[in-house]
Amino acid sequence: MKGIVGTRRACNVSTMAIEGPLVPRTVTTVLSLDDVCLAGRTVLYRADVNSPLDPSTGAFLDDSRLRSTLDTLSNLSDSKVIIMGHQSRPGKDDFTDMSGHCDRLSRLIGQQIRFVEDICGDAAIQAIEEMQPGDKVFINNVRMHPEEYGENKVKAEDEPTTEIVTRLSSVADAYVTDAFGAAHRNSPTLTGFTEEMPCIAGRLMNREIRSLELAVNDPPRPYVAILGGAKCDDSLRVALNLIGRGVVDTIVMVGVVGNLMLWANGHDIGSGNKKAIKGMMGDDFEPTWKMAEELVKEHSELLFLPRDVAVEIDQKRHQMELEELPTDYPMYDVGIETLQDLRTLLNGAKCILWNGPASYFEKPEFAFGTIEILNMCAEATGVTIVGGGHTSALVNQRGMAGEFSHNSTGGGSALGMLSGDTMPVIDSLSKSNDKFRPLLGALGLEEEE
Ligand code: 3PG
Repeated sequence: MKGIVGTRRACNVSTMAIEGPLVPRTVTTVLSLDDVCLAGRTVLYRADVNSPLDPSTGAFLDDSRLRSTLDTLSNLSDSKVIIMGHQSRPGKDDFTDMSGHCDRLSRLIGQQIRFVEDICGDAAIQAIEEMQPGDKVFINNVRMHPEEYGENKVKAEDEPTTEIVTRLSSVADAYVTDAFGAAHRNSPTLTGFTEEMPCIAGRLMNREIRSLELAVNDPPRPYVAILGGAKCDDSLRVALNLIGRGVVDTIVMVGVVGNLMLWANGHDIGSGNKKAIKGMMGDDFEPTWKMAEELVKEHSELLFLPRDVAVEIDQKRHQMELEELPTDYPMYDVGIETLQDLRTLLNGAKCILWNGPASYFEKPEFAFGTIEILNMCAEATGVTIVGGGHTSALVNQRGMAGEFSHNSTGGGSALGMLSGDTMPVIDSLSKSNDKFRPLLGALGLEEEE
């Protein structure tokens, strides 16, 4: 893994620090596992283990979010750990209890975790009180509690007085979170413990904050952001945020976003392609079009747009120059010349952010552009950050996460952070740091040097 190095032992737990190119100069100050000694203590651990499940069997289609907790859990091996997570949303097919997550995680860590079909009722409290150091309890899907999700979800200001927070606080010493995938949300289990006990960033959360703050605050230059996929509004908000901060040298637009930007730049991409973009975006089309026009008018010198494309004719891939537009055929990939230029650009980059595929990669004929970019990023010598969602899933499916400096576990949260949105979970960690860092000694939680 590039750019992430260093191991030190403290308080009988191993810790991994992020050093070298992945330390931004300006980073939100939060408590980390290096600052505290939690051996023997009772720790509430909020993770984002929301995973794709086979709707008919409930089997995990991807367990990478469970795997992403392993580093922190190994650091907490001498603590009593209560694992809290959500799966999907009430009413959806994959809204399940957490027994499957508990079994899978037990296998991954090689230790039986006790599942409790309760969240903060007497059964959960009793199970917590029976724990010994080293034990782990997995409580049920926190979104089964009305305070956490749905019509009766509590307001942010009322979270500290909820049953979830008051009852779980009464039996715990500290709160650790790796729920970066939900860091753009607030709810009792995500942001309710701020003032109740020290809230500490787990190993994953720390890596996410540092890597994504590097990408938006002070990336090594030249910095190239590759934005693709079909979420055009999100991609353009990321582009405008990076440009507004003055941190980016080139923004590469590919995928549906690239098609939209070609259109905004005066290329007639054909009525079928225009209709497809409008259909995908619905009401978001007009505001997104305005952002596209702003980018083309005000920042064209920073944009790298496709100079050729691949269209589908009779289910086959056909290369097409921009001069041949408009086309009646769907534009499903960037062309070869675009990829050649991109290779040169990425070879000179010291930092690359990639979010969103370049093509309709589920169709084998059109996976080419996306896979080429995947390989180019993996071969790049600079810092490489994958901004979550489908791109991250692709990197994991191909077994290439180790080739990147950071592969975010976030989806909406990573996009939110890259767009400059408020992140309630990170704000909560920062506030809890301000309140509890000076009190760690008095609470007996201070790490000894
Ligand atoms: C995610 O998978 O994006 C997070 O777990 C958040 O899920 P949500 O969008 O249902 O809040």
